[in-house]
Amino acid sequence: MEEDGSKNRWPQRGIARYNKLAMTEYSTHHFQATSSYTVSVGYDKRLYPYDIDGSLAHARMLGHQGIISQGDAGAIVSGLEAVRREIETGLFPWRDDLEDLHMNIEVRLHELIGQPASRLHTARSRNDQVATATRMFVRDAVASMQAGLRGVQDALLGIAERHEGALMPGYTHLQRAQPVLFAHHMLAYFEMFDRDIERFADCGRRANVLPLGSGALAGVPYPLDREWVAKELGFDSISTNSMDAVSDRDYVLEFLAAGATTMMHTSRLAEEIVLWTSQEFGFLRLGMEWVTGSSIMPQKRNPDFAEIARGKTGRVYGSLMGLLTTMKGLPLTYNRDLQEDKEGIFDATDTLLATLEAFAGMLHSAEVDEVRMQHAARDSSLLATDYADYLVAKGVPFRDAHGIVSTLVDIAAERKTTIADLSIEEFQAQSLAFEKDVYEITALASTTARDVPGGTAPNRVTEAMIKARARHNAREASV
Ligand code: ARG
Repeated sequence: MEEDGSKNRWPQRGIARYNKLAMTEYSTHHFQATSSYTVSVGYDKRLYPYDIDGSLAHARMLGHQGIISQGDAGAIVSGLEAVRREIETGLFPWRDDLEDLHMNIEVRLHELIGQPASRLHTARSRNDQVATATRMFVRDAVASMQAGLRGVQDALLGIAERHEGALMPGYTHLQRAQPVLFAHHMLAYFEMFDRDIERFADCGRRANVLPLGSGALAGVPYPLDREWVAKELGFDSISTNSMDAVSDRDYVLEFLAAGATTMMHTSRLAEEIVLWTSQEFGFLRLGMEWVTGSSIMPQKRNPDFAEIARGKTGRVYGSLMGLLTTMKGLPLTYNRDLQEDKEGIFDATDTLLATLEAFAGMLHSAEVDEVRMQHAARDSSLLATDYADYLVAKGVPFRDAHGIVSTLVDIAAERKTTIADLSIEEFQAQSLAFEKDVYEITALASTTARDVPGGTAPNRVTEAMIKARARHNAREASV
């Protein structure tokens, strides 16, 4: 009994202590404790340029339309510019008790210009206001992502062009499969990042629709000129359903999905960089600024940037999963849950930009060991398919040829040599279709033979590089 009692006392004391603490916090900091839970200004202040631009356009339009006086509109416009200057010079008095960026700016405007400030929120709700600012943020973030991706593409093209003609083993299952051109491998990533650019463009197009004018959810009872506001803010069009406009965030999801895909692509490249810079592969050496030494092992040149990029992929996926989950059960229209979209977009944007910059830098600094790569590519087991194709050309059915070459691979392995070093008698013992010209099968011949559009034949790869460079230049010129 004694023992049981003493055992039970611990948790009880723990609980009592916990409650007491909680009660103290509750009574002395009740206000902060409850309101800090809903406060977003700590992070949504990042939207200030968009919020101010949106308010400027709204106020001007209210003035033009005679919904407020031109005088009040003018006062609001100059007041908002003063607010912008305060924010940019770090003088703005951010207040947590005002919850979000929108209320902070409106209250400060009132402090600066007085009564006219109270007319800014005419014909507007924070619901269409925040949706507008968020769409503007996404639109700019799309442009930065595309610039970052173009930077990586440029680095990929550069490294491919510097090593035109270099051979390497191509892999499936991380097993040496067939020889390919190193440039072909790099251009594969160029294509992935090219589609990423298009995915962002697509998302940017759908994001570029103006929600302002939707009010809280049902529209507003004022004669707005929404088209004018859209034009002023650079939107392509105005939203066609007020309830949809204030409550959906699919453009954020699309942005995060495009970002997650880009991170997946960079993460695969990161993994190859980690492998290729290892002593086992030794294909690549990164510039000193892109590697880190070990605190205890002096020989180490760790590819930390690549590893961290691979690691950071998780947080971008997390932001996408987080918002999908946040939104899945929300009834129309606006719900405060939607405020949870912001930190994910900000974090994903920052993560992606930093990652893309690191990749451009790493690739620009990378030295390729062509000799080592070429040596690995000359392993004649990579040419097994070519031996089979050789037999096919001499009339042997492909399946039979496959079996014959398998046997040759085994014989070579047993003799600790390569197929190319077997004697003509050993070849002919497996098939009389083999002739002297079997020794013309080499890694270079193997790649040269793959002369189909999209194949690794050197002339095809050169053409692909020229086309990719032209595509890249056209994109650069169009921004
Ligand atoms: N901070 C809010 C958000 O990000 C702004 C909109 C608030 N609207 C409201 N009705 N409480 O979603």
